[in-house]
Amino acid sequence: MSSCVTTDNYKYWSFFFDGVPDPSVSDNKDDQDVDSVAQVLVVDNTNKKPSIVKHVPFAEDACNSCHDQNNMGGYVAKQPDLCYQCHDDFGEAKEYLHGPVQGGYCSNCHQPHKSKHEKLLVMESDALCLECHEQSNIESVDFHADLESFGCTDCHDPHGGSSRKFMAIGSCVNCHGSFADEYKFVHGPVAAGYCNTCHSVHSGGEGVALRRQGQQLCLYCHDKGQVMKNENHEGIEDFACTECHNPHGGEDRFILN
Ligand code: HEC
Ligand code: HEC
Ligand code: HEC
Ligand code: HEC
Ligand code: HEC
Ligand code: HEC
Ligand code: HEC
Ligand code: HEC
Ligand code: HEC
Repeated sequence: MSSCVTTDNYKYWSFFFDGVPDPSVSDNKDDQDVDSVAQVLVVDNTNKKPSIVKHVPFAEDACNSCHDQNNMGGYVAKQPDLCYQCHDDFGEAKEYLHGPVQGGYCSNCHQPHKSKHEKLLVMESDALCLECHEQSNIESVDFHADLESFGCTDCHDPHGGSSRKFMAIGSCVNCHGSFADEYKFVHGPVAAGYCNTCHSVHSGGEGVALRRQGQQLCLYCHDKGQVMKNENHEGIEDFACTECHNPHGGEDRFILN
């Protein structure tokens, strides 16, 4: 795994000098609260330079919330606890944590002070992912062969999630719309957002890119013996289940076409 920190000395010291307190900023606490909200959005408006977003505690000169005043070069806590002083612990909300999050390497991806990239990222998000994940490995996964128009975080949560590949909640329906608007009854796996149990999309392949063909698509989850007991299924051996059932949903629980 390569390090993702590309900080060079120039950036370090420009951080430092930009962090010098602005004497015109009021010491009044109430004013500061208002300022702090505004400062997340402090933007350099000249068109030549990229916008800079400052981290609130840095902008507020709350240097001591991270740096140990009594120990030059030391911190008040190690990451991730350093960050969890103020941010929710991802480990509490997510079942699976992304490797570098688990390891507490927050600053592999985030600048602690300020950044010209959204969310204080050390670089543009997709490039960041590809610092550690080989593009060729990614592209060998059928979902990823044709990624040009997609950002990694359109589908993956960078911190973790309820599945091993950290699919961002609602990632598919964000773009495709929810079938709940379309159907009175939504098929179990569709309602649960497990789109990829049936689809292997964005492969550059044809059409809806199903993972399995014919009845196998459905019998991956439904027990054949059980299904064939139903009198409505007599003589269907040569039919695809989707001849009669809509894979996403329908007007009643049997999701018939
Ligand atoms: C949110 C926590 C946080 C806050 C607030 C913060 N820093 Fe930092 N600072 C860090 C971290 C983490 C690093 C190490 C970054 C790295 O390794 O890429 C760092 C690095 C530095 C460095 C580089 C030298 C070194 O120690 O390696 C200086 C100088 C510095 N900070 C000064 C400041 C000043 C001045 C402020 C207040 C205006 C401040 N920091 C506020 C977390 C913070
Ligand atoms: C002293 C409190 C404090 C500490 C410590 C702290 N943060 Fe923050 N951070 C904030 C506040 C306040 C905001 C702005 C409000 C928000 O988004 O929650 C913020 C926002 C952020 C954002 C979103 C920025 C944006 O542009 O939307 C990121 C990313 C972030 N922090 C990462 C970190 C990381 C990584 C660390 C540890 C190195 C850390 N924070 C430590 C207080 C803190
Ligand atoms: C692998 C890279 C990576 C690591 C490691 C990482 N983050 Fe992030 N983080 C991101 C990205 C990418 C975003 C922006 C997500 C988006 O825009 O959808 C983000 C967004 C955030 C935000 C803004 C709120 C939000 O959810 O959009 C906070 C706060 C934050 N991260 C804190 C942390 C803390 C604390 C750690 C360490 C425990 C950490 N991050 C580790 C990549 C990372
Ligand atoms: C600092 C290095 C680093 C960065 C940056 C990084 N990852 Fe990871 N990622 C890892 C490690 C380490 C693992 C766990 C080891 C593994 O399973 O490959 C992992 C695992 C994953 C997994 C699960 C893989 C599996 O097979 O279970 C996904 C999905 C993932 N990362 C997506 C992303 C995305 C999206 C980004 C950008 C937001 C990103 N990663 C940025 C290091 C990184
Ligand atoms: C259109 C949605 C989508 C986008 C965009 C996307 N992914 Fe994925 N990714 C997936 C799905 C779905 C899987 C497989 C999940 C499964 O099989 O459980 C996956 C799997 C992975 C894995 C695990 C690979 C393995 O060998 O199993 C990694 C790592 C990963 N993605 C990283 C990335 C990175 C980096 C990007 C951006 C360059 C990205 N993904 C963009 C949907 C997406
Ligand atoms: C960032 C937006 C975005 C995300 C996220 C996304 N898709 Fe797509 N998807 C598209 C676009 C754009 C197309 C191609 C245009 C079209 O046919 O609708 C497409 C095509 C498809 C197709 C083929 C549709 C057809 O009519 O041929 C399927 C199936 C599909 N996506 C399923 C998924 C699944 C499953 C996920 C979650 C893993 C997902 N998509 C995530 C935007 C997205
Ligand atoms: C049980 C398997 C299954 C699941 C789960 C599933 N799909 Fe499909 N999907 C199909 C089949 C089969 C087709 C082809 C339908 C046809 O040809 O009439 C399809 C077609 C599509 C299409 C093409 C346009 C359309 O509506 O026919 C899109 C887009 C799509 N699915 C997105 C999704 C998304 C998003 C999810 C998750 C919310 C999802 N699918 C879950 C089986 C499934
Ligand atoms: C990823 C697993 C999965 C796949 C693949 C799958 N299903 Fe389902 N199916 C479910 C789950 C889960 C339920 C909900 C069961 C419940 O609510 O009791 C369900 C419910 C149903 C029901 C309603 C059953 C009832 O008694 O209410 C029908 C009909 C159905 N599926 C047909 C299909 C067809 C046709 C396909 C193929 C296009 C298919 N399923 C593929 C998991 C799956
Ligand atoms: C010729 C049309 C037809 C085909 C083909 C078909 N079904 Fe059905 N299926 C039905 C009808 C009709 C019902 C029952 C509706 C009722 O009881 O009112 C049904 C009910 C079901 C049920 C819920 C009741 C039960 O027996 O558990 C499931 C699950 C199901 N089908 C799955 C499948 C699967 C999987 C396939 C493909 C192997 C398939 N169906 C193929 C017409 C069909």
